[in-house]
Amino acid sequence: MVEFSLPPHAKVKPGKTWPAPEGAKDILTVKLYRYDPESGDNPRLDTYLLDRSRCGKMVLDVLFHIKNEIDSSLAFRRSCREGVCGSCAMNVNGRNTLACIKPLAEVGDTLTLYPLPHLEVHKDLVVDMTHFYAQYASVQPWLKALTPEPADRERLQSPEERARLDGLYDCILCACCSTSCPSYWWNGDRYLGPAVLLQAYRWIADSRDEATGERLDQLEDPFKLYRCHTIMNCTDTCPKGLNPAKAIAEIKKLLIERKL
Ligand code: SF4
Ligand code: SF4
Ligand code: FES
Repeated sequence: MVEFSLPPHAKVKPGKTWPAPEGAKDILTVKLYRYDPESGDNPRLDTYLLDRSRCGKMVLDVLFHIKNEIDSSLAFRRSCREGVCGSCAMNVNGRNTLACIKPLAEVGDTLTLYPLPHLEVHKDLVVDMTHFYAQYASVQPWLKALTPEPADRERLQSPEERARLDGLYDCILCACCSTSCPSYWWNGDRYLGPAVLLQAYRWIADSRDEATGERLDQLEDPFKLYRCHTIMNCTDTCPKGLNPAKAIAEIKKLLIERKL
């Protein structure tokens, strides 16, 4: 398992400590990154001493506990609460993952929570995903078919052709992989990063798509694609068990094959 270093916004000041509730026997220490755009005291690491028995089962439940019962000013994103929407992605004890499917039982006595690394922070754990989504849009993530759809049926795929999309269509765009990739940290302005490249390959691999050549042309670029140096942090960290590094390798392979 690769433990990657904490993000640059890890350089925070010590913040406020919230005492343990009276009578609590099993204490969970939560160190939580706080950033408030309307405060000059930024960023800081607040410490919450919690009664573990009241924290629920998942890391996201701890955040709800803090927000609902201790500090309502805390900001974080979540929606589905079951690992499907990708919005609760954050850095949990040094690794990017989804807070809603990270069991508290896997966390030791101290839970340290930071926003996803190397993204601008709006507030606390809420990061700016604008650039990430713009990069996603740039790969034109929709079916491009040049021939008209038959009038009497949808476009068909064999079971084998459909199976080639397994491990690709399941990506929830949480950005855990891209924000754990050192190449993306340093060149994220031009390197598309593992999440977006996996999504690009999802359409290249789709038997119904008829724009493969055009898609490959757009990716054949020293920065967009070739900043991947097979470090594998992306695959190591993906909370859905996907393999973006393999998808990137497949794109590179196709680019070589079409030259032969
Ligand atoms: S590949 Fe995995 S880590 Fe990357 S965006 Fe998709 S689901 Fe998230
Ligand atoms: S394999 Fe490529 S995309 Fe994945 S972490 Fe390494 S450099 Fe980044
Ligand atoms: S809340 Fe949707 S993935 Fe965690």
